[in-house]
Amino acid sequence: FKFVLLAMMVLSLAVAAVGCGGKEAAKEPAQEPAKQEAAAKTKLVVGADATFAPFEFTDPATGKYTGFDVELIEAICEEAGYELDFRSMGFDGLIAALQTNQIDAVISGMTITEERQKVVDFSEPYYKSGLVVAVQAKNNDIKSFEDLKGKKIAVQSGTTGALHAEKATDKDKITYFTSSDQAMLELKNGAVDAVVMDYPVTAYFIQQGNDDVKMVGEILSAEEYGIAVPKGKTETLEKINAALKTLKENGKYAEIYKKWFGEEPK
Ligand code: ARG
Repeated sequence: FKFVLLAMMVLSLAVAAVGCGGKEAAKEPAQEPAKQEAAAKTKLVVGADATFAPFEFTDPATGKYTGFDVELIEAICEEAGYELDFRSMGFDGLIAALQTNQIDAVISGMTITEERQKVVDFSEPYYKSGLVVAVQAKNNDIKSFEDLKGKKIAVQSGTTGALHAEKATDKDKITYFTSSDQAMLELKNGAVDAVVMDYPVTAYFIQQGNDDVKMVGEILSAEEYGIAVPKGKTETLEKINAALKTLKENGKYAEIYKKWFGEEPK
């Protein structure tokens, strides 16, 4: 009898535990372990200028940051065991923020250039890009980069597009904007004749229903995007590179790439 009683107690306890567990799991899915794991992770503060769709921008539906770069850095952090702290700031302040250790890394459609390599370190390239000239769809006199002489151009401050515009026309003809959207709006409004900007961003902008804008001429220069870290932060850089390599090998990189660009990685 004692045994039966014990067995019944054990059984009812077990049922209670399962019932309870089920209810709690539904309410708070694995809260405790997740919290503990997060606390043990090193934080990676990543800066970006989130006005650069489809690389980093605010999803109008959710109000959250999204894009190719955002999903890539999320995957890198997951792979490398970092807790991601993503922050948006003006593009022309990103390098200084790295130099003063306010942030640990930058992923922002940032082109790997010799100038920048003097002051920050870059990961392996993660995207092949280039610059293009955008004009109003009805414009007929600007057909290429060469036609920009004497024309008014809008650019985003601190970008390779700004540098190329400075080569193409006089500096006093250039209007500098903090965000890339503002430069594009200036073109739509007819306040400038052209915008020099990254090809994938310009193409995406036009595709999003801005068919009053078109691209002309060749894609200007072959550029590659990299993730930047403060100079000498080799441990961070190695972790990022190792994670990037894994994601390229296990198909995750290709998956994110296809989602945002509708094609296999170049
Ligand atoms: N690729 C260009 C550069 O490195 C433009 C990048 C702008 N990125 C951004 N998130 N606004 O200068």
